[in-house]
Formats: sequence, structure tokens, C-alpha cells
Amino acid sequence: MFPETRMRRLRSGSLLRDLLSESSIKKEKMIMPVFIDENLKTRKPIESMPGIFRYGTEDYLKYIQGLADKGVRSILLFGIPSGKDAAGSSSYDRNGIVQTAIRGIKDSTGITVIADLCLCEYTDTGQCGIMQGQLVDNDSTLTTYRKIAHTYADAGVDIIAPSGMMDGQVGAIRDELEKSGYSNTLIMGYSAKYASNLYGPFREAADSAPRIGDRKSYQMDYRNSREALRELELDLEEGADMLMVKPALFYLDVLREARVNFSLPLAAYSVSGEYTMIRNAVEQGFLGKDAITESITSIFRAGADLLISYFTEYVCSGNLDE
Ligand code: PBG
Ligand code: ZN
Repeated sequence: MFPETRMRRLRSGSLLRDLLSESSIKKEKMIMPVFIDENLKTRKPIESMPGIFRYGTEDYLKYIQGLADKGVRSILLFGIPSGKDAAGSSSYDRNGIVQTAIRGIKDSTGITVIADLCLCEYTDTGQCGIMQGQLVDNDSTLTTYRKIAHTYADAGVDIIAPSGMMDGQVGAIRDELEKSGYSNTLIMGYSAKYASNLYGPFREAADSAPRIGDRKSYQMDYRNSREALRELELDLEEGADMLMVKPALFYLDVLREARVNFSLPLAAYSVSGEYTMIRNAVEQGFLGKDAITESITSIFRAGADLLISYFTEYVCSGNLDE
């Protein structure tokens, strides 16, 4: 009770505040998404994401080596192929864009390579799976996911991250890895992934917007949180090594629920729309730069162990303009 208890005693100086801080941002817990475009030789800006580029076949390695030099420890790879078709067949090409990049990166850096596994960048429909009539067909899509996982593992990927929200995707990939001798390849499940409006800029970045329909028949409804616990539970049962909640900032309640209910490492994905909102407000001077740090801290405070963020490079380098 006041006056014996004075909360302001805890905040009276910056060293004291540091001493008593409950959460912090750790570079080694952060993952930088990287877009590699088979159609480009050198980088091209992504209009909706200031400071973020698609890299081309001739400059992605140099960029990633630069990230490693700045202290970035992990990257999440997305590929934009030169050709799309109904089956998304360029996704499981042994010499596809992601497979080639994985080999190149693992040969030249010590960085941890996580590869997103999905079909929306590779299908002519822009859907995350194979269409049958008007619907994305779950089980035939799993057959394709297995093929992709196999080629990623052959290329030497560290972690496979299936993002398509097909039922059974983690189990199918785990089974494929086990059968092909890759029992040490990790799986990061995009377990509770919502059908969010915040993916807009990404779809420009990865050229993966659905040409027809939307993703609501497989991604989660944003009105639900108990359902997220079921999704997380299933990924755990199917053999995921770590779980994820995505997006992050609008879903901190879900993240906290996940933290309380599961003991697996828990990732959060602070998605493209979160980056764009904050970055633009900072750029225009409407928010201070520290809003970036505050937003990232809030995600760790809510319970994330790992964070995929487009601000990872900035956090490691301290420079927004590179
Ligand atoms: C592909 C995928 C998406 C994101 C990651 N993997 C887009 C989507 O599901 O529409 C979103 C990432 C972001 O917005 O930063 N399935
Ligand atoms: Zn997808």
C-alpha cells in the first residue's frame, strides 16, 4: 500500500529499468524472411514493403552472406519460380529456385536455413494446393508437399516450414522425411495460421495472390481462438518440432494461449502487413523508431520463443536504410 509501496521506485533510472526488465529482444531468436526470384538477376524493390527486396539469381548469395555478417542467424526462404502451372510442378524441381538456393547458402554460410513449403508461388491459380473443381483438394496436395519436402531435404535444408494449412501436412512431411533417411530434418508447423488481411504485401512480394477465390477454406477464421489450440495440438501429434502462431500482433492472445498450453518451442510470424504498417508510420515520422522495438518486444513478452520478422535485419544492424 502507498506510501510504503511506490511503483515509481522501480523506474527511477535507466540502469535500474534494464535490471528489472522482464523481456528482451535477442538477435539469435530472430528469423529474416528472404525472397529469391528466378526471373531476376539482381534485386528489385517490393513496392508495398519499403526496404525489402526480391533478390535475383546473381545477388541473393551476397545479400545472405551480408546478413550473416550483420549477425542474422536464421533465414526463411521463399522462392518465385520462372514458371507456374496447375500442378505447381516447379516447386519440386530438384534444381528449382529454392532447392538451388538452399545448396548455395549451405555451401557458403553457417546460417540456419528454413524453407517455406507451399504451392501458392508455383500454381497458376495462386492457391496453396491443387484444385479439384472449385476447391483445393487436401489429400492430393499432400502428395505434392511430400515431393517438395524430399527435394528440400536432399538440398540440405535445416528446417521445413509448411504454410499451406492442409490437414495432415506435418504428418505427411514427417513420414516422407523418415522414409527417405532425413530423420534429423526439423519441421516448423505454421500451426495456427489465420486467413488474415495482413498478408497483402507478401502476396506482391512472392507473387502468390490467389487468382480465384480466397484462402478461407483452409486458413483459420480470425474470430476463433479455441480452434487454434486444436490446430497446435494436431501439429504436435503429427511430429512438428516447433509450433507457430501467425500473424503476431493482432493475435497476441492466441500466442499467449499457445505458450500456456504447449511446451514446444513456439514461433510467431510478424507478417508483411505488420511490417508495412509500422515501417510506413515510422518513415513518415508519425511514430518514433522505438515503436519497432516495442512491437517486437510485445511479441516476446506474449510468449514467443522465436520470431520471424522483416525487421530482423534492422534489429541486427541497427540501420533501417540498408
Ligand atoms: C504462403 C505464405 C504466406 C505467408 C507466408 N507463407 C501468404 C499467404 O498465406 O497468403 C504470409 C507472410 C507474410 O504476410 O509476411 N502460404
Ligand atoms: Zn501458400
